[in-house]
Amino acid sequence: MTQPDANALSLLPTEMVEACDDFSSALSTCSTLDELNRLKGIYIGREGSFSSRLMDALKKAPKEQKRNLGAVVNGLKKTWEDAIKVRQSELETAKQHLDSAKNAWDATLPPPTPPTGALHPLNRLMDRLVDVFRPLGYHVEEGPEVETEEHNFDGLNIPEDHPARGTADTFYLAQHSELLLRTHTSPVQVRVLKRLAPELEKKGGIRFLAPGRVYRKDEIDPTHSPMFHQVEGMLVGKGIGMHHLKGTLAYAMKALFGPEADVRFRPSYFPFVEPGCEMDVHCPLCGGSGCRVCKGSGWVEILGAGLIHPNVLRIAGIDPEIWSGFAFGMGVERTAMMVSQTPDLRLFFENDQRFLQVMGGLD
Ligand code: PHE
Repeated sequence: MTQPDANALSLLPTEMVEACDDFSSALSTCSTLDELNRLKGIYIGREGSFSSRLMDALKKAPKEQKRNLGAVVNGLKKTWEDAIKVRQSELETAKQHLDSAKNAWDATLPPPTPPTGALHPLNRLMDRLVDVFRPLGYHVEEGPEVETEEHNFDGLNIPEDHPARGTADTFYLAQHSELLLRTHTSPVQVRVLKRLAPELEKKGGIRFLAPGRVYRKDEIDPTHSPMFHQVEGMLVGKGIGMHHLKGTLAYAMKALFGPEADVRFRPSYFPFVEPGCEMDVHCPLCGGSGCRVCKGSGWVEILGAGLIHPNVLRIAGIDPEIWSGFAFGMGVERTAMMVSQTPDLRLFFENDQRFLQVMGGLD
């Protein structure tokens, strides 16, 4: 900026002379367009700005000084206007660069992938069980979730006074009191036995798995839910004994949990097997020292099993003097908790994506 004439400047109020001196440094500290606009208002705005006040001072100046001061005032105004314009275009260019950098498309980045769906961990576990048993000759059967009392209870030799037959334990359909939400996958046994009884001799036996949902009036807690999953397994043949059952299940558990899988069989009672048993797995969550899942025992019960009761075969039209077999019903949630070391089965139903993603490693 050209230095204004000292004589002429002496006619101006001191703060305005100082303002002329301060302009350059004030301009250089403006780093945004907003700051620059504020400076513009102070120096060259319409009212109250330094340039409007310079014009006032010019009007009031003595006649002989007017010419000289006029040149100074105009020069100052022009200098400020030009300098502000230059700074404005610099700041605008800088802003444009910044904006375009923000929106820049980086061709080196991997493309955004849409989230893909996946099978639920419980379904994957049931698929795995099917894969374990398929090479042993087992095929997959299905049954309805709304069952008749005949399939759910009578065909399974379950007596009238069994607690599962009461409304306290079982969901009956309000409109059809003989229909209920199946309490286990065992009614599939009755359906398959009846269907295949006529061709049993021709086929030489029966082997199937029946995975599916079952319902009981249980309170929700870390190990119970009113809806859960079971995998039923059944084999019918000639001369079948407990050793076949134990051998088959011990093999399957090793295939599922690994070669060190530790299992134990305990005698138990189910009306549709004789003898009956339950199978426990050594709790991998606590290593057997006792935890919430194994209720301090170090073992978790994952299935009920036994040799098919002669009455069940008889009701289905199969001669128990010729045919025998075993059956088991495995709790899928319990088993999934073991495989994945999850202490609370509710996690499987809450559909929290973070949990399901971690469970991606279930296989
Ligand atoms: N249905 C039984 C239950 O739900 C399990 C079971 C199946 C037991 C087959 C023996 C044989 O508890």
